[in-house]
Amino acid sequence: MSIAALGKAVSVRSLGKSYGTARALDGVSLEIAAGEFCTLLGASGSGKTTLLKSIAGFETYDAGQILVGGADIGPVPVSKRNIGMVFQNYALFPHMSVRRNVAFGLEMRQMPKRDIDDRVSEALSLVDLTAYGERLPRQLSGGQQQRVALARALVIRPDILLMDEPLGALDKNLRQAIQIELKRLHAAVGATVVYVTHDQEEALFLSDRIALMDKGRIVQAGTPRELYDRPANRFVAGFLGECNFIAVDGRQIAVRPEKVCVGSRTDSCDQRLEARVGSVNFIGRGFRVMLERDGIELAALVDASDEIAALRPGATVPLGFMRGDVMDIASA
Ligand SMILES: Nc1ncnc2c1ncn2[C@@H]1O[C@H](COP(=O)(O)OP(=O)(O)OP(=O)(O)O)[C@@H](O)[C@H]1O
Ligand SMILES: [Mg+2]
Repeated sequence: MSIAALGKAVSVRSLGKSYGTARALDGVSLEIAAGEFCTLLGASGSGKTTLLKSIAGFETYDAGQILVGGADIGPVPVSKRNIGMVFQNYALFPHMSVRRNVAFGLEMRQMPKRDIDDRVSEALSLVDLTAYGERLPRQLSGGQQQRVALARALVIRPDILLMDEPLGALDKNLRQAIQIELKRLHAAVGATVVYVTHDQEEALFLSDRIALMDKGRIVQAGTPRELYDRPANRFVAGFLGECNFIAVDGRQIAVRPEKVCVGSRTDSCDQRLEARVGSVNFIGRGFRVMLERDGIELAALVDASDEIAALRPGATVPLGFMRGDVMDIASA
C-alpha cells in the first residue's frame, strides 16, 4: 500500500527531565530501530508519557539528546517533526465528519484537496472504516472512534507513530480486536512505533521490543521473550508475568507459575518439594492453585483435572518443577 513510509530510527541518549524536585526521567537511553514496534511499559508515574512527549516535542528535557534518523531533533519544532500521535482520549472533533477529522492534519499542511481526498480514503481503508466517512464521531462505537484517531495519525505518513495508552478506555474484547488490527497496520505501514501501556499482556502481544520503566529509568529493554524468560532482576520478573520465589536449601530460586506442577504431575519433575494447599480456583484454561511453603505463598497454573479439583485447603501436596525452568535472577 502506498501509504507505507519507511520508519526512522529513534535514539534516546541520557535523557533527563525534572518537574521541580520530581525526577520524571533519570538518564534514559534507548535505541529503537527503524520500523520497530517498541513499547514503553511501566507502572503509573514511571515516566512513560514524559518520554513519549519528549520525542513528540511537547515536552522539553533538561539533559540528553533525541536523534531521529540520526539527526538531533532538539531544535526541530513540533510542526516540522513528521510524527503521528494517538492518545488515550482520542479527542476527535465532534462536529466534523470522520473524513474531515482524518483530513485535518493534511489541511493544516495545505495539501491540495484532491491529494487529501485520496490520502483520507487510503487511511480509512487501512483501518477498515471506508463506509463510515460521512458519520460524526458520536455515531461511532468507542473502537471505531479509536480507529479514526489512528487513521488521523497515519494519514500524514509519519516516520514515527507515538501512542499513549490508546486502548485504555476500551473493554477487553475490543482491546484485543484492536491489538490484532494494530499488528496488521504496523506491518502494512512500516512506521516506527513507540507505544505506551501499563498492561503487560498488551506489551507482550504487540511489541518487537519492550522497554520496562521504573522511577524514570529503563530497567531492562529487550524482546518480549528476553524480558519474560531472562528478567534482569526481581522487579522485571514480577512486573512481566508472575513469579514465585521459593526457598530451597537456603537459596531463593525463581519459577513461573506455569512451570510449577502439583500432585501426580510432579512425577516427571526433577525438583520436588512439599507444600500446603491454600486455595484452588478454576480459571477456564486450567486451575490456579495457591500453595504455601515455609510461610511463603506460591502460585501454580495447572491443567484442569479431577485430581486438582479435589484438592482441599490445608492438604499437603507434592510440588515440582524442572531445574531448567528455574530463572537466574539477581536479587537487586
Ligand atoms: N506537568 C507535570 N508537572 C509536575 N510533575 C509531573 C508533570 N508531568 C508528570 N509529572 C511527574 O513525573 C513523573 C512521571 O510522569 P509520567 O506522566 O511520565 O508517568 P507515566 O508513566 O506516563 O504514568 P501513567 O501510567 O500514570 O500515565 C510522575 O511522578 C509525575 O507525577
Ligand atoms: Mg502516562
